[in-house]
Amino acid sequence: MINAKLFPLSCLLMLAMINTLLAVQQPPAQPKAKPAAKQIQNQSQVRSMSLPGLDNVFQIDKQIYSGSGPAEQKSFDALKKLGIKTIISVDGTKPHLEMAKSAGMRYVHIPIGYDGVSQDAGLAFARAARDLKGPIYIHCHHGRHRGPTAAAVVGLCRGTFDKKTAIDFLTQAGTSKGYAGLWKDVREFQIPSDKAVLPELVESTPVSPLVTAMSEISHHFEYLDQKKAANAQALIKKKNLEVLVLLREEFREASRKHAEDYDEMFKTWMQESEAEVRQLENAFQKNDQKQIAAGLKTLKSQCKQCHKAYRD
Ligand code: HEC
Repeated sequence: MINAKLFPLSCLLMLAMINTLLAVQQPPAQPKAKPAAKQIQNQSQVRSMSLPGLDNVFQIDKQIYSGSGPAEQKSFDALKKLGIKTIISVDGTKPHLEMAKSAGMRYVHIPIGYDGVSQDAGLAFARAARDLKGPIYIHCHHGRHRGPTAAAVVGLCRGTFDKKTAIDFLTQAGTSKGYAGLWKDVREFQIPSDKAVLPELVESTPVSPLVTAMSEISHHFEYLDQKKAANAQALIKKKNLEVLVLLREEFREASRKHAEDYDEMFKTWMQESEAEVRQLENAFQKNDQKQIAAGLKTLKSQCKQCHKAYRD
């Protein structure tokens, strides 16, 4: 659908190149043990790939890929090598438009929540499936939940998937059953009729201030979580403490400014997270590894607790 017209000879050549490339970049074959025949039957046909600077990359069909958000130069280089022409972000974070542009790619931003695919988003995905120049790379943050959901919907619109294979793909991608809305909206997705008016696609869509704050919170938290075993080296310590201050401020702002739409419990939980970050600053200051690990764990459980109640 996307580009029968756009794929003359030169592109065939490119496809051949991509194929060679993929062959090289395939993850190493599974160890010898063969999966049972039944398992093979149940596996979806979607191919998983390993690319530099990207995680959880899957190729849904010749034109559609899904995976984690490209954030560094090497991620964009990898997408360029793959031949990607358009990137669709379904994440709340503002897309890296400049990096995409200089790699010759267009961005389209269709943010969705963890609670499902709104009707508008569904129509936008249908438009993407119909009109965007491929190959297309669809991403959320980690490439496990919202990105695969969007890719499943685009796959349904393109006829690559039927309902069963779309659901199989979510299973393969590791989409959490905890996000029931994502599964439901794939299961119940209705391909818009030819007459449906489909929305314009834009390169960057404003999202709510809380979503922006959460993108920042998630960014800072992951930075600290990766480095939790880090040493007391002065520079690393300084950076960790700076990130902690930013994280604490995000929580404070969130409870002051963005909590109006929610209840008292929400505000209390935000404040508890702010207090937890304060404790973490203490632990990082003393370089107390045990306390650091415990604090990060508590904070993570606070993220989960609130998301379960108010987001998912
Ligand atoms: C007190 C509640 C609360 C706490 C604590 C909380 N969050 Fe959130 N978070 C939310 C809500 C509500 C949303 C959904 C906002 C929306 O879609 O409007 C959200 C959304 C998100 C998103 C999705 C943003 C997007 O792209 O749509 C991420 C990522 C996230 N939170 C990460 C975190 C992390 C990491 C932590 C802990 C370090 C955390 N959150 C702590 C309430 C919370």
